[in-house]
Amino acid sequence: MAIRKVGVLGCGLMGAGIAQVSAAAGYTTVVKEVAEDFLKKGFVNIEKSLAKLVEKGSVTTEQRTQTLSRLLGTTKFEDLADCDIVIEAIIENLDSKRETYALIDKIVKPKAIFASNTSSLVITEMMTATQRVDRFIGMHFFNPVPLMKLVEVVATITTSSDVIDEAMKFGTSLGKVPIRTSDRSGFIVNRLLVPYLLDAIRALEEGVGSVEDIDKGMKLGCGYPMGPFTLLDFVGLETTYYIANIMFDEFREKRFAPPPLLKRLVLAGHHGRKTGRGFYDYSDPANPKPAF
Ligand code: CAA
Repeated sequence: MAIRKVGVLGCGLMGAGIAQVSAAAGYTTVVKEVAEDFLKKGFVNIEKSLAKLVEKGSVTTEQRTQTLSRLLGTTKFEDLADCDIVIEAIIENLDSKRETYALIDKIVKPKAIFASNTSSLVITEMMTATQRVDRFIGMHFFNPVPLMKLVEVVATITTSSDVIDEAMKFGTSLGKVPIRTSDRSGFIVNRLLVPYLLDAIRALEEGVGSVEDIDKGMKLGCGYPMGPFTLLDFVGLETTYYIANIMFDEFREKRFAPPPLLKRLVLAGHHGRKTGRGFYDYSDPANPKPAF
């Protein structure tokens, strides 16, 4: 089955990015949000991202116009009915996801593929809310979606091989490099990234180095594009805390256990860039200062 029309559930940071790359790749793309306000916010982010890409010369003004013309925002599930693939990027909450999947399973045509962008939940647990266990897969994109080249394609024990091939092909058509992985919490990237980020916090707690020096260490010593604390603030501390807890529940290994300092920062509402404070203070966003 050829994919022509793409549905995206959620127009937050990830959903907006996925919708953008889908429309840019030539697919008619319908994005569903719970309310108009969220849609508006998501579309503003898409326009900002396209403006940056035009400014850099990687997208022409004509391509930007075409991309936007292929995007349709909606608050109605019914508008996803004839999509060939629906990529879900709603809140990372298993009950909300299962509820949504059970609902769209009755609305979206039976041949359509359902793909979850979850970063840590078990795909199999979402899949069982539907009747299409052979046409259910994970497609995990990375932030910022328009720039990051990777997509993890996550097969469950019941995903059909045709659907895996289709998802790999679709990922490539979006300009991404797909890698195949199995349904283990965190997949490949977060399995390795999350313990590294948590270890940076432990190193800070133990006085091994300051926020700035640990960041410099990994940036300049290992060539990482961002140090661990810059990345933690970028991903969001509440998101990392949530993912770590899910992975800890799955594997019961200390390396996935969130350190106390991360919990305290999340409790205090210091979630990183989005709240203006995390491991850095973003009062002057162009010039972040270590928060402690
Ligand atoms: N759309 C379009 N352009 C964007 C953009 C977006 N969403 N975000 C940033 N840019 C542009 C910037 O405007 C900038 O353009 P100029 O060069 O013209 O100024 C350019 O990209 C580079 O950005 P910056 O100068 O801000 O910084 P940078 O050179 O460090 O690049 C980055 C930014 C690509 C994000 C790079 O820092 C990077 O690769 N960081 C690591 C990100 C990462 O690890 N992401 C994965 C997070 S984990 C995850 O997503 C999974 C999970 O489950 C938690």
